[in-house]
Amino acid sequence: MKTLVAALALCLLFLPVYQAFSIDMDKKIEEMEARLTKTEKQWMDHTQITESQKNDDILRELEAKLKDTEKQVEDLRAEVQGIFTAPVKGVYYFSFSANHRTTKPSGLRLMKNEEQMVSVYNHAAGNRHETAANGMTLQLEVGDHVYMRLMMNTWIFDNPSNYSTFIGFLLFSL
Ligand SMILES: *[C@@H]1O[C@H](CO)[C@@H](O)[C@H](O)[C@H]1NC(C)=O
Repeated sequence: MKTLVAALALCLLFLPVYQAFSIDMDKKIEEMEARLTKTEKQWMDHTQITESQKNDDILRELEAKLKDTEKQVEDLRAEVQGIFTAPVKGVYYFSFSANHRTTKPSGLRLMKNEEQMVSVYNHAAGNRHETAANGMTLQLEVGDHVYMRLMMNTWIFDNPSNYSTFIGFLLFSL
């Protein structure tokens, strides 16, 4: 019972932080989508005016704006889902740690796009806390995705002590 209350308290502690983050991101996505709709309409309007009034430069500009806005919406969505999207071509370093209670196994994969780069796995063994960690230097192209994937039937644990982490930084661009 005590553990349950503690776990619940932890969830409640994290909830406002998570909610604030997701509301903020939802608002940002909404704003971006509104901009996308507006640009789409401008583009549509311009394609429908008479041939003599058509301006290829404006059309090209609108098309570029449309593409750019679409990409920004896509990147924002990925961010919300915890997926890192490389903004520049370069060499990055990523590391992660996963704490778990050993009543069940724990397994995590560091993914680059759909491919596993490195992983950790801890077998179930008794009932104590253990941490596994790994990391790797990766060369990424613009738009490459890096994220963590939990292995099937495994778990990780965390509390405000931040035992389970996923960090990355750009070492240098190429
Ligand atoms: C855990 O991470 C949060 C957010 O990054 C930070 O504010 C907090 O100080 C960290 N707590 C500990 C114990 O390191």
